[in-house]
Amino acid sequence: MALVALGVSGGIGAYKAVEVVRGLQKHGHEVAAIMTRSARRFVGEVTFEAITRRPVITDQYARGANADIEHISLATDAALLVVAPATANIIGKFANGIADDFLTSLYLATRAPVLIAPAMNTNMLEHEAVRRNLTTLGARGVRFVEPGDGYLACGWIGKGRLADPEAIVEAAVRVLEPRGSLLGRLVVVTAGPTYEDIDAVRYIGNRSSGRMGYAIAAEAARRGARVILVSGPSALAAPSGAEVISVRSAAEMHAAVGRHAAQADVIVMAAAVADYTPADGGAEGKIEKAEAPLDLRLVRTPDILADLGRARGQAPRPVLIGFAAESGDPVARGREKLKRKGVDLIVANDISRRDAGFDSDLNAATLVDANGDEPFPLGPKTALASIVLDRAERLLNLARDRR
Ligand code: CTP
Repeated sequence: MALVALGVSGGIGAYKAVEVVRGLQKHGHEVAAIMTRSARRFVGEVTFEAITRRPVITDQYARGANADIEHISLATDAALLVVAPATANIIGKFANGIADDFLTSLYLATRAPVLIAPAMNTNMLEHEAVRRNLTTLGARGVRFVEPGDGYLACGWIGKGRLADPEAIVEAAVRVLEPRGSLLGRLVVVTAGPTYEDIDAVRYIGNRSSGRMGYAIAAEAARRGARVILVSGPSALAAPSGAEVISVRSAAEMHAAVGRHAAQADVIVMAAAVADYTPADGGAEGKIEKAEAPLDLRLVRTPDILADLGRARGQAPRPVLIGFAAESGDPVARGREKLKRKGVDLIVANDISRRDAGFDSDLNAATLVDANGDEPFPLGPKTALASIVLDRAERLLNLARDRR
């Protein structure tokens, strides 16, 4: 049994936090509720007091609060800080280290893992300021429970509704009672495109949406792994349980993966990394048009996967898995890449199909390894994610047996 600090901030979904308390209690955990000032405009503190059977913390300076050992020690006693709903305001304060009430101070004071369930209007969620704050928190290891789609209190239909209480409880329990076949493993996944800047406003990108890599990251987290998702620009929300590092260019992705490669048990390169980038890092400012044709000099980017293969050499770890986009003979080309890059598995996508691949929820691929090839006929990317991780687990077990 663990003590969970549950922060409730002022969103219409605040009433759902009551169900989160119940769910955590059903799993045998104790909950201490903290309400922000605006949360109390949506739900009465008595509700939380009755259900948690503890005083609700509402004010950092409330008389008695500082003498009450329970309050002071919450930062050290809590095994997890959950914030549901988390408004744009609380997310902004967390991201920027503002500590002007109990909840924001607790966030800075605690060393416990933090799980945030954002809830707000769709436009707010998509606002660059909020996205940047979420990215900052993700890079610090904060985990998220993705908001859902549906009718919002403001009358809009879109993304931003607080996740279902069951999903929040499930994500919290996963942190509190980690289990699964990848427990104790670090899985690094790359996803999405890279953007190579031509000048201050233009870039070379590609059609990758990030769906395949995000599906693998989500599945690895479900299996109990610590997941670091290194993502190029993508519109997708962070998979719950994964730490997200946002990057832009191939060079940035190379550096981010390199920082974690030595500790990783598995690295899955699902990103569509640019092979070329403008020489000298692109032009400063904006290139003005002229009548003459424009020559753009491109130079090769580092091959991240091949570098990982070289660095690993004969060592059994990390297990290395690459993706390839093939329109010709996927098996032969996949096999050639497997050898050239020194990796364990290549998932060769057939990009000649119109119903799968880029920007689709479906994929068709062939899994190519040293022992042969296995087709994955058209199916959801989530199913392919499972198969890829089954293979990763098998390879990890082989690596262990060889030791
Ligand atoms: N990759 C990489 N670094 C690069 C380019 C690619 O790590 N600079 C990784 C990709 O993430 C993917 C695999 O290598 O896992 C793809 O290999 P690549 O040789 O680039 O093949 P394709 O892009 O599929 O096709 P092509 O051979 O035509 O370039």
